[in-house]
Amino acid sequence: MRRVMGLALAAWLAVGCSIGAPSEDATGEEIYEQLCARCHGADLSGGVGPALGPDSNSAIETDEFIEFTIMNGRGRMPSFSSSLDEAQLGRLVDYIRSEQGL
Ligand code: HEC
Repeated sequence: MRRVMGLALAAWLAVGCSIGAPSEDATGEEIYEQLCARCHGADLSGGVGPALGPDSNSAIETDEFIEFTIMNGRGRMPSFSSSLDEAQLGRLVDYIRSEQGL
């Protein structure tokens, strides 16, 4: 019984730890769906956070502004610096740009 409890705990911890951290080779779209869609909408049309798609403020902002926002957070948006490395950040911004038609 002890052993079963231990395994259940290990499984629970493994799931818990994977939340918020996309796999290393996740595409920009996968990262967006995992970390951003719940606030910015699956189609980038906004929700809790502002729209990020075509004709949004983000579409006319620089990559630096978007990267800074993701890594440092802004207002009610949390920082994602502990969940994303540079390569993942690059793929995420590329995905947002492609959805914006840029
Ligand atoms: C918990 C909800 C939440 C999550 C998750 C979230 N955001 Fe946000 N985001 C917001 C809110 C709220 C704002 C507006 C902040 C403000 O200006 O006060 C915002 C602002 C932004 C902005 C600036 C938009 C503008 O026009 O000023 C960008 C870009 C952005 N988010 C991208 C992302 C990306 C990419 C992700 C995923 C890594 C993400 N956000 C995850 C809530 C969220």
